[in-house]
Amino acid sequence: TKQKLWGGRFTGKTDPLMHEFNQSLRYDKRMYAADITGSIAYAKALTKVGILTADEEQKIASGLQTVGKEWEDGVFSIKEDDEDIHTANERRLSELIGPLGGKLHTGRSRNDQVATDMRLWLLGEVKEVESGLKDLIRVMVERADKEKDIILPGYTHLQRGQPIRWSHLLLSHAFSFHADLQRLQQLIPRVSVLPLGCGALAGNPFVVDREFLAKELGFQSVAENSLWGVGDRDFIVEFLMWASLTMTHISRMAEDLVIYSTAEFGFVTLSDAYSTGSSIMPQKKNPDSLELLRGKSGRVFGNMAGFLMTLKGLPSTYNKDLQEDKEPLFDAVDTISASLKIAEGVIATMEVHSDKMRQALTMDVLATDLADYLVRKGIPFRETHHISGRAVALAESRKCQLNDLTLQDYQQLNEKFTDDIHSVFDFEASVERRESIGGTSKKMVERQISVLRASLAN
Ligand code: ARG
Repeated sequence: TKQKLWGGRFTGKTDPLMHEFNQSLRYDKRMYAADITGSIAYAKALTKVGILTADEEQKIASGLQTVGKEWEDGVFSIKEDDEDIHTANERRLSELIGPLGGKLHTGRSRNDQVATDMRLWLLGEVKEVESGLKDLIRVMVERADKEKDIILPGYTHLQRGQPIRWSHLLLSHAFSFHADLQRLQQLIPRVSVLPLGCGALAGNPFVVDREFLAKELGFQSVAENSLWGVGDRDFIVEFLMWASLTMTHISRMAEDLVIYSTAEFGFVTLSDAYSTGSSIMPQKKNPDSLELLRGKSGRVFGNMAGFLMTLKGLPSTYNKDLQEDKEPLFDAVDTISASLKIAEGVIATMEVHSDKMRQALTMDVLATDLADYLVRKGIPFRETHHISGRAVALAESRKCQLNDLTLQDYQQLNEKFTDDIHSVFDFEASVERRESIGGTSKKMVERQISVLRASLAN
């Protein structure tokens, strides 16, 4: 009996291109395990309300396990009429155990089934992504801990601003990822809502115990409205938004490193493992890993924007448009998982050139400290800012550095300058002065490291 699961009311055949167009098995088969798990739980729930006998439930469960094993071993044979993972698994179950297989779908619809599978599958992936994110943060924190003594210019507008610790910069990116980690953990309760038992749209007439189902499947709560249960895909949007933002952070970090790996900066060198060469220019070593991280952020954002367009304007409950939730979600999960690993590898293996960073520290990055020096002698900051600016201009006109000006030069700008002025021209002292919480002093960098380490522990 080669007929579609829903073939009863049909006499005409599906157009072959329509069949292709409709088919989602080629990508939704990756949820096979979630589909089997959901079905085994549903069989138990049917048994509890007397639709299946204990013996029937046993046969269905073991049949489903065989189907799962076939997928796992790569021997599941796909049939022309298998539309999606749900129809494929049910078709195979009935081949294995006979007409009894046809009892499994009692009171269930692919609408509550697919929503359940997606949530179950995503919950598993979120755990993986979470551990990938933690690994990245960990590598950054370990590196920051080892390289606390390296000082470089901090930039605003890509212009040298003030000296900072290299670790402080690295940790600034880690703090973005730290917030991403919290956001990821916080979206779990909204993914973990059980749609199974909502039926096609109106609910389950065999009154299956949905709280039991939630427990069986490890969901935190049960969808309270069946129309919402089958039609909601906000949990997917939320994950895509999360992934877009996290990729944006990866991209901004990548951009810093692309700049720092140029010969002009020379602050870092990527390891060969994460670089590629040029087919024509023999000298080239390009930071392709970083460029791909930057580029793939656009791809993930596109998945989010595209899927929001799919949702916008849909009527209530299930519409086939919702099948378009899968490819963007799967692609986003694959992309972010790979990106986290690549970012981790890049950070773990790159070389940091502290000498180059040191060389980039010109005295003008201490101009703020120079202004602060006079503040400590009682002059209002607005005035000291101006005086320090005059010193910068004077040094610039003489093509020398701030510390090449004489004490006399300084005293001409303001009589409060004394010979302790030379204490200003010390990069180490400058960073150590920033010892309020959040500053770049060694102590405050160590504080950041312990905050991040603590967050990795949960
Ligand atoms: N493959 C479908 C999807 O991914 C499953 C649900 C189909 N339901 C339906 N009533 N046609 O959305």
